[in-house]
Amino acid sequence: MKNILVTGGAGYIGSHTVVELQKAGYNVIVIDNFINSNELVFQRIEKITGIKVQYYKIDLLDKTNLNSIFEKYEIDCVIHFAGLKAVGESVKEPWRYYNNNITGTLNLIEIMNNHKIKNLIFSSSATVYGNPQIVPITEDFPTGACTNPYGWTKFMIEQILKDIQKSDNDWNIVILRYFNPIGAHSSGLIGENPNGIPNNLMPYITQVAIGKRPELSVYGNDYNTHDGTGVRDYIHVVDLALGHVKALNKIEQKAGLCIYNLGTGKGYSVLDVVKNFEIANGIKIPYSIKPRRLGDIPTCYSCVDKAKVELGWEAQFGIRKMCEDSWNFQKNNPNGYQ
Ligand code: NAD
Ligand code: UFG
Repeated sequence: MKNILVTGGAGYIGSHTVVELQKAGYNVIVIDNFINSNELVFQRIEKITGIKVQYYKIDLLDKTNLNSIFEKYEIDCVIHFAGLKAVGESVKEPWRYYNNNITGTLNLIEIMNNHKIKNLIFSSSATVYGNPQIVPITEDFPTGACTNPYGWTKFMIEQILKDIQKSDNDWNIVILRYFNPIGAHSSGLIGENPNGIPNNLMPYITQVAIGKRPELSVYGNDYNTHDGTGVRDYIHVVDLALGHVKALNKIEQKAGLCIYNLGTGKGYSVLDVVKNFEIANGIKIPYSIKPRRLGDIPTCYSCVDKAKVELGWEAQFGIRKMCEDSWNFQKNNPNGYQ
């Protein structure tokens, strides 16, 4: 396997994965419509790896242009990151989310099928587990009962992929359910670059640290957790990226349909993350306690045994390093990639 097509490769997780794929010797081709990213990321990637990224501005909803990539290159496997991911926005604009994420994926599969390319790695999310009865979460936990349209798109795409693989065993599909990616490449050249007010915890903390926002709102301190604040499984984005390189081996083994959690197996509360950020970077993060955020769950962390045994993959970086690298990117890029 040589040529890997990465959809959404300009985004946060995609860009880190492109770096690790190039380092592992793969020839990477990226398509992205840049709706939530910036072309400048490819200059940064080239600085890190010394390899130019072949990229094309293509929307997954544009079948003609999407098809042209498969005419131009002999693709061996597609890693499919492209999608809209803002939970709150998905509640306000459900049609746009269903259309972009589901129609986009259906277009991709149709064109892959036409070209007899049947190897796919898909970015799913811990959100498909809803509010788990117990933790840690294993891959056979029930899914569905999502709390927003974004989550439903992940659940529905998983179902579509399962049905397609069942109907045609030539398909090899790895579904990766990410927990909470944070951190950045240690060079500080690439990282998370959210538009507007960040929804997620770590980009909010780094914007408080750099002075863009006065304080962090902690959404709820009355959950049944060790300090009352929400507990999540934060994973370094480089570890996550390396999980995709390992998943390619599984595709090469022609393993059919496989599903893996990618997390660390450890849960940290909001206040744990704040504390670790302060210690790692020597910066105080002012915060105040606010009411719970609608749709949030108390606790979510993964069991990582399956990925360890079957992929030979395990997260290496701890919470301090995640906090250091998130801050390193933010302070070197106060205005993102501009
Ligand atoms: P991101 O927004 O940084 O990257 C997604 C990329 O896809 C962007 O560059 C965007 O421009 C592109 N894109 C969106 N719609 C497109 C379309 N129709 N055609 C072409 N390109 C399109 O997001 P990310 O954090 O890197 O997430 C990558 C994937 O992982 C997404 O599918 C996301 O849902 C999933 N995921 C993310 C998280 C997280 O917390 N970041 C957690 C679980 C799952
Ligand atoms: N939080 C705050 N203040 C903030 C932001 C977040 O207290 O300003 C808290 C939340 O209440 C939660 C924790 O920090 O307890 C983590 O929140 P995030 O928004 O960073 O992450 P979520 O777990 O809510 O959701 C993220 C992605 C989803 C994905 C899910 C699982 O946004 O798309 O992880 O992978 F599905």
